[in-house]
Formats: sequence, structure tokens, C-alpha cells
Amino acid sequence: MAVSGVQQTMVNDTLEYDRTIELKAFDETKAGVKGLVDDRLVKIPKIFVRPAEELAKELNCRPAEVQPPIIDIGGIQGLDRRKEIVNEVRCAAAKWGFFQVVEHGIPLTVLEEMIEGVRLFHEQDLEAKKEFYSRDSTRTVRLNTNFDLFNSRTANWRDTLIISVSASGTLNPNEFPAICRDVVTAYAKHVQNLGDTLFQLLSEALGLKEDHLKSMECTEGLRAVCHYYPACPEPELTLGTTKHSDPLFLTVLLQNQISGLQVLYEDQWVDVRPTPGALVINIGDLLQLITNDQLKSNKHRVLASRVGPRISVACFFSGPVLSSKVYGPIDELISEGNPPVYREIQLDKYAAKFASTGLEGRAYAKHVQNLGNTLFQLLSEALGLRENHLKSMECTEGLKMACHYYPACPEPELTLGTTKHSDPGFVTVLLQNQISGLQVLYEDQWVDVRPTPGALVINIGDLLQVYGPIVELISEGNPPVYREVQLDKYITKFVTTGLDEDLGLDCYKK
Ligand SMILES: [Fe+2]
Repeated sequence: MAVSGVQQTMVNDTLEYDRTIELKAFDETKAGVKGLVDDRLVKIPKIFVRPAEELAKELNCRPAEVQPPIIDIGGIQGLDRRKEIVNEVRCAAAKWGFFQVVEHGIPLTVLEEMIEGVRLFHEQDLEAKKEFYSRDSTRTVRLNTNFDLFNSRTANWRDTLIISVSASGTLNPNEFPAICRDVVTAYAKHVQNLGDTLFQLLSEALGLKEDHLKSMECTEGLRAVCHYYPACPEPELTLGTTKHSDPLFLTVLLQNQISGLQVLYEDQWVDVRPTPGALVINIGDLLQLITNDQLKSNKHRVLASRVGPRISVACFFSGPVLSSKVYGPIDELISEGNPPVYREIQLDKYAAKFASTGLEGRAYAKHVQNLGNTLFQLLSEALGLRENHLKSMECTEGLKMACHYYPACPEPELTLGTTKHSDPGFVTVLLQNQISGLQVLYEDQWVDVRPTPGALVINIGDLLQVYGPIVELISEGNPPVYREVQLDKYITKFVTTGLDEDLGLDCYKK
């Protein structure tokens, strides 16, 4: 049997683009995004291209003309000045979750040398860098590109050197890369001191004793995350860093003079413009949790740019991440009128969860997308096809979420929650609460699909039954029973007829 046009296109797509293979090939070069740029490519690989709807809606919007506050924290020893600074920090941390600090005590030369050290590391010969290339999060020093490369929908245009400065409470510079060892050691000590000061100011801003947050070990677990964002030939199609909030307590960010960082403020993206000598401070999710929402951990992202490299060093205060220490809203910050809005979390489990999901992935939709990939693999294999067959036909695309609410009904014997139908898509993943009602027609009898705690209901849709029968599944003895459908026309037909008119699949038969 001849291969149809649609099927030929699918075969071509399979040959041209298998995302997992491309990700692996890219990772195995150990050269990162810098390696792509060194190869002088003019179009970015597909793994970096954001989804069309994101490009249309989110990526290319004009930033608002405001700026997060810049706070001069010099003179904190003076009583009156300290009160003013604490007040400014309180407003900025509660309203923006972001601010810049100047007069912070770290000499400009140290800041400049740190940026230069990161540049030298990333721009050295590939062979010298390769020994640090790793995705093993237990290593003190590791270089990689996109820590969540295999979990994210789209890769980011950046490479990262991660140095755990004081994960175990001690500094061990001997493990730091020689090319930037001295400056990283010096800079980390300065940042640790600045962190102590910032946590004091934040404690006071919350009306607590100045050492309160330090006594909770928030100042521990310092990591220097050194990003290198090369110039990008198609910055309008990708991002340097996906939109996210930081999962930890506090971030101290040093950036060179190439802009790109944006923070979401009152539903608008705002540029955080590089200010010579300034450091960007932002509140992390854990600080929002323990302050019971008094301080805000805000979403931010980094744009890609034709100009580069942008270099930044994000120093994360993550707390004692390897411990089972439990964090919840601080007792002094809750009351009868202001009850805790978060439950307690165990730090090691919280950190492991973030590491396994990445920047994009804490939403339900992301988990469902991953589950969908697995289910389509299993279904492919169940049909005797290669595991990526259905994925290569783009069956895993077009995820939509329909969230139903079925109120209690005074006369349920006269109506239905949902009319009898089969689903028009490829596959449905259904999450239901413990109120039953779903029934499936099995051997001409209605059967309850009883809610099972933790379980998801999976059902096959019409399209998986019909969609231009797969070449490998037909033969002379098993000829196609359906004609090919054009997806947009098929969807339009379903939308215009609704559930009531049960067309079935007969209309698509040959
Ligand atoms: Fe961040």
C-alpha cells in the first residue's frame, strides 16, 4: 500500500526531529550553548524554540516603564538610618519581591573580577571544561547546560557552572575550578556576610529579633550559580531562562551590563536594568512560606539577546538542604486572624522535588504532559510499533484541560451530569474526586468507574481509533476501515454538533 501524504509527512517529521534524541546529542557534546555559538549557527535548534502560543502572547511584549527599588544599605549601623533601610526593605520585599542594593560593602573590583572569572571559565577550551560537565547534583562543582534539560518543554539559551560553596557548612576551595578559584572564594565570603546582613534586615522588617532568620538556618546552604548566556541569532524565538520563582530563601544576583532579566510586576514584565556596582536581591518561595505570605517570591525570567554574553552569578541561600529540617509559617507571624496558609515542608524532600521537576514543572499540566508521553509510548508498544510512533504523529500535542464541577442535584433521576459520548481526542487523562458518577458502556451494560484514591482514569478517544489508519497496522487481510480525516475539519465538526448528536465513527468509514 502506498504511503499517504499525511503519513509521509509524519515519517519525515520522525526522521527530522526526535526531541529526546536531539537533547541527548546536544548534552553529549558537553559544549553547551556556547558550543553551538562557536559553530556559528544562524538558526537555533528546535529544542530551544518556545511554543507558538507563548511566542505570540508572552515573549515579545513591551516591558513596563518602572523599576524595582534601589536601596542604599550603607550606614546601617546608625539607628535612624537603619530604621529607614528596614522600612524600605519591608516595602520592596512585600510588594516586589525584588530590589537592588548599593553600598553593600563588596568592593567593585571584586564584583568585576567575579564576572571576569566566570567569563574565563566558560570561554576556556572545551577539553578543560569537560571534566566539570555533570548532572550529578551531589558534586561540589558541576557545569551543565539547563539543569532541567530532559524535564522541560523548551531548553534555555544558557550554560551554567554551579558551585556548592557551603553545602556541608565548610568551604572547600580546592575543589573549585583553578581558573576562577581565588575570586569565587573571595566573592563567596563577601556574599555570605552580605547574606547575614540581609537576613537581619528582613527579620527586623518582619518585627522579629534581628537573628531570627539566621537562627532558623536560612543563611546556610550557599550555592553560586554562574550563568553564561551567549549572544543568540534568533532571540525572538527563545528565552535565556524560563519564567519561574526561586525555590529557596533568598537570592543575591550579580549581573554584567548586558540586560535581559525581567520581573513580573502587576501582571507586566519589568526590566531589572543592570546598575553598576549594584546587586539584585530577590525573595524565594521558602521565605514566602515561612513568612506566611508577608514577603513575596516573584516570577522572573531572562530574555535571550543578539548581544552577549550576558553573565550573571546567582548566589542562593537554600538552608540546610540535605537535612530533614521542617519549615512552616513562623509562629510569631500567625494569629487567629492571620492563620497559616501553608503546611510544613521537609527541606530535603522539598529540594528533591524541585530538582526532579525543574523550572517549568510544578503545575499539574506538566505532570500530565509527562504522563501522556509515557502512555503514548506504552500504547505504541502495545500496537507493536516503535515506542515513539504515536508521539511522532504528534498525538501528544494539543493538551487541553476541561475542569468540570457537578453541583449536587435535587432531581438527579431526571437529568445527567454528562451526556453519553465518546471523547473526540486521542487520549483522555481524567482526575476525579471521591464523588462517583462516571460510567462506561461495556458489553452493552453501564459500569461504574469508581473513584480510587491516587488513581487517574485513562480512556481512548475517537481519533486514536480513526485518524488515517497507521500504515503498519493495515494489511491486505486488514484493510483500512476509515478514511483519513483532516484534523481541523474533524474538530470543527465535533464543536458544531456537540455531545448530543452521537455521530459515532461510522461517518469516517470508507
Ligand atoms: Fe531565578
